[in-house]
Amino acid sequence: MDPVTNPYAPGAGSPPPELAGRDELREQVRVAIERVRRGSPAKSILMVGLRGVGKTVLLDRLRDDAEAAGIHTLRIEAPEGRSLPALLAPELRVALLRLSRNEQAKALGERALRALAGFAKALKIKYQDIEVGLDFEPEPGLADNGDLEHDLAALLETVGAAAQRAGTALVLFIDELQYVKEEELAALITGLHRAAQRKLPITLVGAGLPQLRGRMGRAKSYAERLFDFPPIGELSPAAARRALEKPALDEGVEITEDALERILAETHRYPYFLQEWGKHAWDTAARSPIVLDDVARASRVATAALDESFFRVRFDRLTLAEKKYLRAMAELGPGPHRSGDVAAALQRKVTSLAPIRNQLIAKGMIFSPSHGDTAFTVPLFDLFLHRIMPGDDWRE
Ligand SMILES: Nc1ncnc2c1ncn2[C@@H]1O[C@H](COP(=O)(O)OP(=O)(O)OP(=O)(O)O)[C@@H](O)[C@H]1O
Ligand SMILES: [Mg+2]
Repeated sequence: MDPVTNPYAPGAGSPPPELAGRDELREQVRVAIERVRRGSPAKSILMVGLRGVGKTVLLDRLRDDAEAAGIHTLRIEAPEGRSLPALLAPELRVALLRLSRNEQAKALGERALRALAGFAKALKIKYQDIEVGLDFEPEPGLADNGDLEHDLAALLETVGAAAQRAGTALVLFIDELQYVKEEELAALITGLHRAAQRKLPITLVGAGLPQLRGRMGRAKSYAERLFDFPPIGELSPAAARRALEKPALDEGVEITEDALERILAETHRYPYFLQEWGKHAWDTAARSPIVLDDVARASRVATAALDESFFRVRFDRLTLAEKKYLRAMAELGPGPHRSGDVAAALQRKVTSLAPIRNQLIAKGMIFSPSHGDTAFTVPLFDLFLHRIMPGDDWRE
């Protein structure tokens, strides 16, 4: 059918035509933010899940929901290798300038901008990547000690006070939070904790890979009590159907029952894969309805496309030893697997493989769901490894 009208949206951060199966979480976040706005206790929400499950698009939708309710927001994505203060400072500035337009909040907004000026100036020595426009002179003694944990808490407190005066809340939306260094996470946790103790309307909605949960706990042992970590994963069968069917029906196209079932089985109901399969099934089909035969052909194209992009970019970043480690995991199935079993498959000692396992964790390829366990961060990566490394060479 006409690729021009193809409704599906495979791609990192591409909003899906139908955001299926996330209504409960949206409601949970709405309630949490409204409670924060009123100064009632509420946990910050950190969504955790594998690659391609829809964390980013959900975060964006939650932000839209919040903005529509009159909440002030900022959004950052933590890339590898930039400091949290450097990412946060310019976005906080923009948020504060906007808050300061509110007559009630003008004075407190300006005070927060002074705090930001002091914060940036004092931390510039340690975090040289901080670049932020300064609208006001710093106020000596306000968020300018040069110690991140202290200064960030002081800064967030002034920001929260301004938001409170404006009758709103400020919500920090942070994606890829697992890349933030532990000491910076610790400072963020402390700052949010202090603001919560003072009933100030400032909170965090974050997203990251599953290892985020452990990192937060290591950064501050009380993090578990301050945050909810809702897992984001594959869709329920009903939601997966809806994600496929609704966009097609909106274009007047039907999908037969066995074709739908086949897509659900091939994709394991993972959101990114659903979009890929939907797209290729649409392009392959000559007319409505999309039938099983279309899906069978689309599966070959979609698998090849994924192997060339989604899986391949990750695979190409690995050393041979890392590839072999992952291949041994794949041999054991989708996982999680005990480190001892992986080592046994490679006929090596667990200790001698520890450095490789650590590198793979650092690269975000695997994580440890519980002590001694190892799992892939990319869904269906085990099947890909079987395709790309067939045979037994990896054992050598
Ligand atoms: N609820 C959903 N229903 C249907 N499609 C979805 C849903 N959520 C996400 N998608 C689709 O899945 C794909 C991946 O989404 P997204 O980039 O948000 O994932 P992610 O979890 O942020 O991945 P990564 O960890 O790689 O950043 C996109 O093509 C998006 O359109
Ligand atoms: Mg993402």
